Parts: sequence; structure tokens; C-alpha cells
Amino acid sequence: MRIVILGSGRGSNAEAILQAQTAGRLGRGQVVQLFSDKADAGILALGPRFGVPAAYVDPAPFRTKLDGEGEQRYIATIAACAPDLIVLAGFMRVLKPPFIAAFAGKIINLHPSLLPSFPGLDGIGQAFRRGVKITGCTVHHVTAEVDGGPIIDQTAVRIEETDTLETLAAKVHAAEHALLPAVIARLAAAQS
Ligand code: GAR
Repeated sequence: MRIVILGSGRGSNAEAILQAQTAGRLGRGQVVQLFSDKADAGILALGPRFGVPAAYVDPAPFRTKLDGEGEQRYIATIAACAPDLIVLAGFMRVLKPPFIAAFAGKIINLHPSLLPSFPGLDGIGQAFRRGVKITGCTVHHVTAEVDGGPIIDQTAVRIEETDTLETLAAKVHAAEHALLPAVIARLAAAQS
């Protein structure tokens, strides 16, 4: 199963996937490419460390969505990798129907809350400020509805009285680092 990972940030979830692959925990899953819409994103530094090609792809002209020329660039560049699975690991852009149609059924997203609660930006902060006692993380199929596609799996994280936004974020990220590679391994096993 050829996996392409897209990310905009530090890449801790991409790193967790690559570590799982190194440890032989992805089964037939193989990360073949990392892409970022930010030239200086930490995720791109994982390429040389893990021996996986990593590249910036210009998302212009829009700032928060992948549309127009940028979308066409991403579709062509990713299609050239012949992916079986596209993993959005902190890719902070809204995907539009042409991109989703180009890779129908092959795109999954990681979100830092128990969807359908707290979609959109800053899922951890939203849950913390709302005062819920349980939050977590979700991996779901990507559809045109932002953060609204069918849920594949979730992990719950309890918010304790003593938690700060920082300690909560650390707990949610730890849950993400376990959940996302496990989901990918299951998808890889189901495909083969
Ligand atoms: C993760 O917490 C992921 O759930 C979140 O971005 C972070 C990426 O961290 N994604 C979203 O909020 C998507 N709406 P990372 O770059 O260290 O993997």
C-alpha cells in the first residue's frame, strides 16, 4: 500500500507513522512521499532522516484552501506517486471536490477532537475552553464536508481538573501518535 503524507507543521504524526514503518508495524504500508504546503515545515526534515522523498508543493493562490492552480498542482504531483492512501497529518487546508474526486476513497484525515465535536481549527483548545471532561482524536475518511467524513476510529482522552492547555495537548498528541499508525496498519492489512 503506497502511502503519501501531507502536512503543514512539525510532523510529529508523520514521524509516528515512519517510526511504525521502521519498526515493521505498518504491514504492507509503505510511505513513498512526504509533501508540505509550507517550505519550512518540520515534516519535510523527516524525509532525509527516514530515507523518504520530501518536497514542498506550492499551494498558491489561496491561503487556507487548496483550490485553483494550487489544487491542480497537488493533484498532478500526488497522482504521479500512484498512492493507495493519502494521509492528512496536520495538513491545514480545506480540500475541495476536484481533489477529493481525484483520489476518491483514498484520503484519510487526523483531527484532534472526538468528531463531530469541535471540528475546524484548534480542536484541542475548543474542547479545553468548552470544559468538556472527555475529548480525544479521530481518524476519518475525507469528504467534501470539512471534518465530516465517515469515522474510522477514535481515542478518548480525559481532561482532568489539573490539566492545562499544554498538558492536554500533550495527551491528545500522544493518543494521535498511537491511533494514526494503528489505523494505517489496519487499512494496509485490509487491502492486501
Ligand atoms: C495534529 O494534532 C492534528 O490532529 C492536527 O494538526 C496537528 C499536526 O501535528 N490537525 C488538524 O487540526 C486538522 N484539522 P503534527 O504536525 O505534529 O503531526
